[in-house]
Formats: sequence, C-alpha cells, structure tokens
Amino acid sequence: MTNYLNHIFRTLKSTFRTLLWLIGKPGFRMQRTQNYCLLTHPDARLNVVNIRGKLTFDSDGLATMHNCDFLRDPYFEKAYQSGQKTGSWGNANPAWRAYVGCWAAEQVKSLPGDFVECGVNRGGLSRAVVDYVNFAALGKTFYLLDTFAGLDERYMSETERQAKNPTFGGRYQDCYEDVCRTFADIPVKVIRGSIPETLLEVDTQQVCYLSIDMNCVEPEIAAAEFFWDKLVPGAIVVLDDYGWADCLEQKKAFDDFARQKGIAILSLPTGQGLFFKPIPSLSGAEDTISLTHCHQPS
Ligand SMILES: C[S@@+](CC[C@H](N)C(=O)[O-])C[C@H]1O[C@@H](n2cnc3c(N)ncnc32)[C@H](O)[C@@H]1O
Repeated sequence: MTNYLNHIFRTLKSTFRTLLWLIGKPGFRMQRTQNYCLLTHPDARLNVVNIRGKLTFDSDGLATMHNCDFLRDPYFEKAYQSGQKTGSWGNANPAWRAYVGCWAAEQVKSLPGDFVECGVNRGGLSRAVVDYVNFAALGKTFYLLDTFAGLDERYMSETERQAKNPTFGGRYQDCYEDVCRTFADIPVKVIRGSIPETLLEVDTQQVCYLSIDMNCVEPEIAAAEFFWDKLVPGAIVVLDDYGWADCLEQKKAFDDFARQKGIAILSLPTGQGLFFKPIPSLSGAEDTISLTHCHQPS
C-alpha cells in the first residue's frame, strides 16, 4: 500500500514538474479546441492533457475519436491476423494502414492487370491483402519485390543514411525463404534484389494495384516511374511512407512526381499517400470501369 501511494505521489510530482517546466518556457502554447486541450512546446513532442471524448483508435501515429468499425469487420480481422502472423510489423499495430491496403486492393481487383508490392519485408501487408480479396481466385499474379535483407546503402540519400530511423540499421534480417513459404498457396513471383535493378524482372505489362514501401526515396521513385505506363486506367497506388514525419524526402519527391504526371496524391491520416491512374475518358463505353465495393462491417 505504501509503495502504491509512493508511486502515485511520484507520478503526480513529475507531472506537475513537467507542467511547470513547460508553462515557464518561452514558446509554450496552450491550444483549446472543441475536442481537446493541448499544451505544446517546440522542444517537446505534443503533450495532450485532456481529450474530450473517447478515442476509437490510438496507434501507429494516429489517434482519433472517429468511427472505425471497419477495423472490427470479421473479414478484415481475419486478413489482418494473417498479415500479423508473418512477423512483418514487430510489435506495431498498423491495422488502419493495412485496412487501406486491403480496401485499395478490393476496389481494383476486377480491373485488368496484376498486383505489385515494392518493399515487402516479411509480407505483412501483402498477406493481409491476398486473404482479403481472395487473390488466388482472381487469375492474377502478385509480384513481390524486395532485397529481403533490408535497405540498400547504395540507394540511400545522405539524410536517409544519417537519420536515426531504426529502419535504416539492423532491423531487417534475411527473410526470403520465409516469404516464399508464406505465399506458397498464392500465384506470386517473389523477386529478390535491389530496386531499381530488379524492376525489369516484372514481366507483366498491366498493373492494377501497386504498393510502394521501401523507406527510401530513390528506389521508390524509380518504381513509380517504371510502373506508371503499366498502370491500367483506374489502377490504385498506395505509398506507405508519404506523410510520415521522418520521410519528408519521399513526400517532396512524390509531390514532384505527381506534378509531372498531372495527378494529386491524397494524404491520409495514417501517413500513407494514395492516388489513382487517371482514366482518359469516361465518355466511351470501352473506357468505363466498374469499381467494386469493399466488405462492409456486419
Ligand atoms: C517497411 S518495410 C516493408 C513493409 C511491408 N510493406 C509490410 O507490410 O510489412 C521496407 C522494405 O523495403 C525493402 N527495401 C528497401 N530498399 C530497397 C531496395 N532498394 N530494393 C528492394 N527492397 C528494398 C527492405 O528490405 C524492407 O523489407
């Protein structure tokens, strides 16, 4: 009991000290909105002290009070568990990001063309996607490209090399054999090696789903450029790193890419970016596409 009271006392004391420290500093700001009261200081990360309402999701850099029932759709839950089992995500819980990938795949699965992921790691997202859309029944091939051993130094920018981001050192182990096993029941082509070098091994001329997630600008832009002409009208592209605070180089490069191609990337609160390959014309019957709907929560 004494230990417990001591613990409460120490916690209150340190919270009070932090508040005093924060309030006493020049640059301290207090922001009140309808939903929360926020104390911030440029030296500190955000300090949310009072949220009015119940958070429905608080993980993976995203906190919200909005409805996210779709994450509890049993069909999605099952697919997500398959992704988690691969070990791709460590202790993280990127459920919302995985849902975006599954939703995207579901929207385009009836279009002509194959699926591609550049940056697979142990196959977390792709395994969730293939289960969600019942990929084996689609008559398509899923191309999975990765070194399967982490980032390639040769393609990293100076900023990427110096970044303290844990993805740039020691996080990845050789997982090629495991990935082959994970997708043994699916029509996949597992392509091992560094992008851009391996891009020519993708022997399809049509792609309707492209996921890019390499935490590295140069190979990501090379992949986007390589697949642009192969993307069928209405194809969807999911950029995993687009809005992450420590991936600013990717955002700038993809914004340039988007300007050149005359498209706009939708920035999602998950940190992902999303765009469609434009449909040249909707006036002729041949150009029209039909997008299917995603599974709705029951
Ligand atoms: C964040 S992980 C991908 C996570 C994966 N999408 C998932 O859902 O688990 C980034 C991956 O990109 C791969 N990668 C980084 N640079 C690469 C390059 N130049 N060529 C091929 N793969 C690369 C790494 O090996 C790593 O597996």
